[in-house]
Amino acid sequence: MAKLWGGRFDGKNEAWIDAFGASIPFDQQLAKQDITGSLAHVKMLGATGIITEAEAQQISAGLETLAQKAANHELTFTIENEDIHLNLEKMLHDEIGPVAGKLHTARSRNDQVATDMHLYLKEHLKEIIEKVQHFRTVLVAKAEEHIETIMPGYTHLQHAQPISFGHHLMAYYGMLTRDQARLEESLKRVDISPLGCAALAGTTFPIDRQMTADELGFADLYMNSLDGVSDRDFILEFLSNSSILMMHLSRFCEEIILWCSHEFKFVELTDTFSTGSSIMPQKKNPDMAELIRGKSGRVFGDLMGLLTVIKGLPLAYNKDLQEDKEGMFDTVHTVATSLDIMAGMIATMKVNTQTMHDATEKDFSNATELADYLATKGIPFRQAHEIVGKLVLDCTLKGIYLQDVPLEEYQAINPVIEADIYDTLASKTAVTRRHSLGGTGFDQVKKQIQLVKATL
Ligand code: ARG
Repeated sequence: MAKLWGGRFDGKNEAWIDAFGASIPFDQQLAKQDITGSLAHVKMLGATGIITEAEAQQISAGLETLAQKAANHELTFTIENEDIHLNLEKMLHDEIGPVAGKLHTARSRNDQVATDMHLYLKEHLKEIIEKVQHFRTVLVAKAEEHIETIMPGYTHLQHAQPISFGHHLMAYYGMLTRDQARLEESLKRVDISPLGCAALAGTTFPIDRQMTADELGFADLYMNSLDGVSDRDFILEFLSNSSILMMHLSRFCEEIILWCSHEFKFVELTDTFSTGSSIMPQKKNPDMAELIRGKSGRVFGDLMGLLTVIKGLPLAYNKDLQEDKEGMFDTVHTVATSLDIMAGMIATMKVNTQTMHDATEKDFSNATELADYLATKGIPFRQAHEIVGKLVLDCTLKGIYLQDVPLEEYQAINPVIEADIYDTLASKTAVTRRHSLGGTGFDQVKKQIQLVKATL
């Protein structure tokens, strides 16, 4: 079949080479955006008199028909027509005849594809931002339920100090809030029109770039045609922000997986978010959490892939840029579905509050409380640290905890220690008293939740 760009060629095409060069298997996802871009372009061609109004209307009508067919999944794409732009142009020709050939006046596939990508990402970025926002509301609701649920806080994955589970959840809220801010900020760079940059150098036709940008709802225009057709920073920024977001989800999933284990039993996921084993009848695996942890790798890969594709490209357009698409589609899909799963999984997760609390009673996570107690009674903190360290060692040898040490023994260690030490050592007291700004004290967590609820 003759190529739309076939004029200067007389060699014959080979199907397997066409297949290697084609992007239609994946860029058909851009059909809607491509038609939208063409509609704006043809309206402008008519308004500026580059083609007649009658021709513009004929082409618009044909494009509307294609839009309808695309929405009904009635378009059949072919490898011979290489990509979404040429496929649709050919279909337009089949709809309205030779006047279709006027659509590509003052335009190139280079500004066309860049426009499609900006339109696509703008739409999907907004959806993703809404999903992040929804997940944040789920986190806050869960945190509010668990302000007074006590769990071991960890450093080095060792019991460190008891904390509020609500506080732990709100740490993820903080990460997701920054993720949302980054995505919202990046929208500015997505919301720019490259249409009219043409192949690389602009055009001799009296086009109106502001008109097409307004028509497409873009807030701004690229001011350098070379930059407009070859910039993919807006995609890199999306992939980079998505990588950080997926890294956060992955860390959270890692904790959920640990918490679901027999050793922890801190939480239980509903059956909807769990799967069984084909051989071990007892198994209930946190597959969805594992998959999100795993899928973070794809998104990091999409970012590295595109950075590598672009790093050596001379200006302006190069066919390498066709490799920008699959990673972007993949990341949009992965991030959107991961956020949906996270929101559902956390909203329905059962928290074993007693088990969490018990885990803070049979450990030494109250050792800091004893050292602080001595310090408030005038003993230099370093010395207090040493005293408690020795006592912990002694307790481990005896197989007891700080709260099991009799008062006489405490007083033999230092007479400043009184009977109120046992209340001080209770994990609930330890958490309650951490009033410092941003600390795990119930009043602080409550305050933080009230503050963010007002912003959500
Ligand atoms: N399918 C191409 C892409 O995705 C469209 C632009 C092609 N431009 C060209 N000059 N060959 O990048």
